[in-house]
Amino acid sequence: MIPRINFAHLPTPIESLPRLSEVLGGPKLFVKRDDQTGLAFGGNKTRKLEFLVAEAREQRTDMLISAGALQSNHCRQTAAAAAKFGFECILVLTGQAPREASANLLLDKLFGARIVTVANRADRDRVLQETFDKAVSEGKKPYLVPYGGSSPTGVLGYAFAVEEFVNQNLPADWIIFGTSSGGTHAGLVLGQRVFGYKGKVLGISIDESELWLKTHVSSLASEASQRLGEKIEFSPDEVLANDGYCRAGYGVLTEAEREAVRLFAKYEGLLLDPVYTGRAAAGLIDLIRKGFFKKSEKVLFWHTGGQPALFADRYANEI
Ligand SMILES: Cc1ncc(COP(=O)(O)O)c(C=O)c1O
Repeated sequence: MIPRINFAHLPTPIESLPRLSEVLGGPKLFVKRDDQTGLAFGGNKTRKLEFLVAEAREQRTDMLISAGALQSNHCRQTAAAAAKFGFECILVLTGQAPREASANLLLDKLFGARIVTVANRADRDRVLQETFDKAVSEGKKPYLVPYGGSSPTGVLGYAFAVEEFVNQNLPADWIIFGTSSGGTHAGLVLGQRVFGYKGKVLGISIDESELWLKTHVSSLASEASQRLGEKIEFSPDEVLANDGYCRAGYGVLTEAEREAVRLFAKYEGLLLDPVYTGRAAAGLIDLIRKGFFKKSEKVLFWHTGGQPALFADRYANEI
């Protein structure tokens, strides 16, 4: 038995996006609402945390430590999970703490997480290790939740998400989503193989190169397959990734993300986030305009959450 605590709101609904399909003159568009997975505004991390928190419990730890950007959705959901299941929580966040916390950072504090800030991303691994070691020296038993929850354990959340999706009987030709630390991507690729999803799985990169994603996602999916009692070796060539939309850099809003957020809101009443789903949707919109998909195809946009970031000071004014 794979340790799992079932707290996500599953299955997440699938909705069609007819007005957006029409205005873009594109294929039939659908969305899978993983922004509604529950746990503090939802998002893709809830699925991963079902397995990660279960592992943390099994290892008899009492504290979750993780790291990310100042407005990390992953850290917000980790802090919420810690609160829900009685763990202490420390988050190592990159950036300069603002005088007043907003959005995800505000929520981190509300969940009682202790925040350690680190000015440069280059120092993050070191500070994370020091934070971990200090907690141990103080008699704590910390569990390190990896960046983005993207360990082979976290990946299982998205492998089983494909089982859920296949059972929803939408014969989508494509699954499109935002990919960054690769855990969601690896889970979808693994689930595609194990649960027999026939369409294609294409990750739009938020910040990593196509080469890095192909290499990292294939090895993560191969490793995670062993947890399912399979021994699948994925090759980098099997992983589809597009890094054509992340040149501006992580979290930097361009007209493309702004347009995507506005179009989804205006035509479907659906909220994207500025950093992840906004960028992934911008890629989707561009691919539609370039005629990448056949008009007869069904394209599913897998929403991965992140909307609290809309209210971060740095994005609210720009959107
Ligand atoms: C809203 C949102 N979408 C997508 C991603 C990317 O997922 P992954 O890190 O599994 O590649 C993240 C990661 O933090 C996220 O917060």
